[in-house]
Amino acid sequence: MDYEKYRQAINLRMSCRKFTGSPIAEADLDKLRALVCAYNEESGLSMQLIIGDPAPFDAKQAMGLFQGSAGYLALIGKTNDPNRMEKEGYFGERFVLEATSMGLGTCWVASSFDKDKSKAAARDDETFDIAIVFGKGEQKLSIREKVIRTYLGTNHRTQEDIAPDAQFAPDWFKNGIEAVMKAPSTKNTKPFSFCFENGTATAKTVGNHERVKVDLGIAKLHFEVGAGGGRWELGDGATYSGKL
Ligand SMILES: Cc1cc2nc3c(=O)[nH]c(=O)nc-3n(C[C@H](O)[C@H](O)[C@H](O)COP(=O)(O)O)c2cc1C
Repeated sequence: MDYEKYRQAINLRMSCRKFTGSPIAEADLDKLRALVCAYNEESGLSMQLIIGDPAPFDAKQAMGLFQGSAGYLALIGKTNDPNRMEKEGYFGERFVLEATSMGLGTCWVASSFDKDKSKAAARDDETFDIAIVFGKGEQKLSIREKVIRTYLGTNHRTQEDIAPDAQFAPDWFKNGIEAVMKAPSTKNTKPFSFCFENGTATAKTVGNHERVKVDLGIAKLHFEVGAGGGRWELGDGATYSGKL
């Protein structure tokens, strides 16, 4: 993993809900397709890159939020995989950071679209949980986007809430938490906490909304990038290794 590239992408990224509608170069789409193949191989997920297909975002529950996107990544995995959602968070966010470093806008979408209208097809033993919409983002924030951001900004949990013992931890842990604070999460709730104990880190979910483990997977990736190495065990409450 190119930590420096990902660190820059973390600093640049913010959810993009308005796109220009212009197409993405075929070479860039090929790069995204190759990344998705590699992530599926590594994770056992069955994510699908869908180009075009605006129907799920034209549906009523999308409230016209994601007009002009180039496509989306459908996050699909085996229904009986207990770590499916965490992997979707971790590998989906890798896709987001790669797309960001290619100059594309992205947004995770759990509720503001209609899965049933999607061209993405989950098999009988799979579940389509969530999407990441992407495309060329509008440079200027729309008034609607500003309203959304102001509203979601009020959900913020502070660094003290998320990692109360960070001040007593080594720099790699502090850097990891700094990157975690920039992670996207459902309604900006940041439903996770990180501890430094016995010389290493552990991460667990807080609360139990439906996709809390997706948020955990995203946050674990951000931590790894911020810390500049190491690797998480899978699971809620799991341990980090490699940065001792
Ligand atoms: C798992 C997940 C699901 C999300 N679902 C939606 C959604 O349905 N609609 C939406 O407008 N934003 C959605 N978001 C985007 C969040 O609202 C956004 O990440 C959060 O407010 C923080 O803002 P930022 O991404 O600009 O840092 C989702 C984010 C995550 C991580």
